[in-house]
Amino acid sequence: MTDIEHYVARRKVMAAQMQNSVAIVPTAPERLRNRDAHYPYRFDSYFYYLTGFNEPEAVLVVVAESEKDAVRHILFCRDKDIEREIWDGFRYGPDLAREKFGFDEAYSIAKLDEMLPGLLADKGAVYSATGHDPVWDGRIAGWINQVRGQSRSGVTAPTEIRDYRTLLDEMRLIKDESELQIMRRAADISVQAHRRAMQATQPEKYEYEVEAELLYTFHRLGARAPAYSSIVAGGGNACVLHYIENNAQLKSGDLLLIDAGCELDGYASDITRTFPVNGQFSPAQKDVYQLVLSAQQAAIDKVRPGNTWNDLHQAALQVLAQGFIDFGLCQGSVDSVLESEDYKRFYMHRTGHWLGMDVHDAGEYKQQGQWRELRPGMTLTVEPGCYIRPAENVPKHFWDIGVRIEDDVLVKPDGSELLTIAAPKTVKEIEELMQ
Ligand code: GLY
Ligand code: MN
Ligand code: MN
Repeated sequence: MTDIEHYVARRKVMAAQMQNSVAIVPTAPERLRNRDAHYPYRFDSYFYYLTGFNEPEAVLVVVAESEKDAVRHILFCRDKDIEREIWDGFRYGPDLAREKFGFDEAYSIAKLDEMLPGLLADKGAVYSATGHDPVWDGRIAGWINQVRGQSRSGVTAPTEIRDYRTLLDEMRLIKDESELQIMRRAADISVQAHRRAMQATQPEKYEYEVEAELLYTFHRLGARAPAYSSIVAGGGNACVLHYIENNAQLKSGDLLLIDAGCELDGYASDITRTFPVNGQFSPAQKDVYQLVLSAQQAAIDKVRPGNTWNDLHQAALQVLAQGFIDFGLCQGSVDSVLESEDYKRFYMHRTGHWLGMDVHDAGEYKQQGQWRELRPGMTLTVEPGCYIRPAENVPKHFWDIGVRIEDDVLVKPDGSELLTIAAPKTVKEIEELMQ
């Protein structure tokens, strides 16, 4: 399949589940950062998943008729505008967009208000991302009201509003080959960025200097943005889970935790590595590091169809709880530490998340109250950690040690594939690279 055929196929799968209904899927708005300066534009993930179209001011409308398989894929987008294109660059315009992106019809975005009531007439339901954006909720309600206002001419208005995310989240959870190709490439770029950052790390440097090596590598290899704000956290900063200040000076004898991944063509990668600033783990650092690494391996071993997402977390917890007891951080048995949740003083997050277009990707973790089973084509992170803040009842040699190890994993029919395996991870690999 060509890239465009993948998008068309996804729209068909969606439409097959929504007879006699209309889906209205707008892309994200441009956002002002401060006067006249915009944030770099990022399309809406659902919209891009269904279209591959990356311009702002665009809306996909999928009209599923009551006859099975009768579908209209309609794009509303910006008109060609030579004057604006001189300032802001190329725009497809409806005609070219229709041809290039495989739509049945395409119109100027200016026609949306005029055409939508007609498209909604006599349809049973509207699919929208209800509650995501009150402006869109209001516009859609307005169009429905317009149809209702024409009832004496014999048309009926949709009586139901459904959420297209329910359909699309399930689809997005299972990646197709074209998505996996992009995700593998995104993972490779992030691996290279982490390798470069490790090699560039030295005592006295600032965290932002190491961050610059990551961003440089992302850009140089064609990934124009990080998938999320990079965490470059030396020493005790690693114990702040969402640390993004990245402005402290690195100290010999400390660890450096880097959680960073690029976005490539709309897909995220998400890698964490933790390593010594001076290239050599201290004995206490090595103990904690090996523990987290064992917990990660135990979790990765659970990644296979039929196991649940929670099985990974439980496998990591077993290993971590035993380690916390061995280190004198927790007291009692593994069962009692898990039962009392005393481990949460040192490990307070879960062991991973779905990964895809969004770094914390779409998809439910439970179905009918039960942890859902893994299936081939799902992609997720496995990222246990251990964060030890200074405290009276904690041996001093562990203070300010924060370790997380995170890889991106694809569920395969017979187990798993580690997309980020090439990022150095064992003590030996890390110490050798940093020599
Ligand atoms: N970097 C975001 C996360 O690891 O979940
Ligand atoms: Mn993650
Ligand atoms: Mn991460």
